[in-house]
Amino acid sequence: MKKILFVCLGNICRSPIAHGIAQYLSTQNNLSLYIDSAGTSGFHKGESPHHKSIWVSNKYGIDITKQKSRPLNEDDKEFDYVIAMDDANIKDLSHMGFEHIIKLGDYGLNGADIIDPYYLPGDEGFEKVFSDVNIALEEFFKKEFDLT
Ligand code: 4NP
Repeated sequence: MKKILFVCLGNICRSPIAHGIAQYLSTQNNLSLYIDSAGTSGFHKGESPHHKSIWVSNKYGIDITKQKSRPLNEDDKEFDYVIAMDDANIKDLSHMGFEHIIKLGDYGLNGADIIDPYYLPGDEGFEKVFSDVNIALEEFFKKEFDLT
């Protein structure tokens, strides 16, 4: 079973949304994948996703309420795919000795960062994260798992 790990800074805003959408796509397409997410920091260890990440995911039919934030650990180097949200995540991951790091925005988004919505006012930042992550993951799943 292939293992996919999504990584952002806090593991409460962006990577939980990516985790939720990827789990949905995996189930929809009868793929046998192990999907998880983690943070480059432990700032929010043990916390549920941000209420706006829960809200926007729920709006599009995805339940991420059971997720809990955790920091990266050495065992995470076993994942087949380690997928980062932005260049800062990639830098932190490479400092921690991770190799073959994928940038999510290289799929369908011309290499763009998934913008950190944590300090943005309102809901638009979280809507944009959901939309960008959805576009990128549709592309990633098509390319990596031969979906039509
Ligand atoms: P995330 O967003 O990396 O998408 O989970 C953030 C969450 C928390 C913080 C920064 C970004 N923080 O500084 O606490």
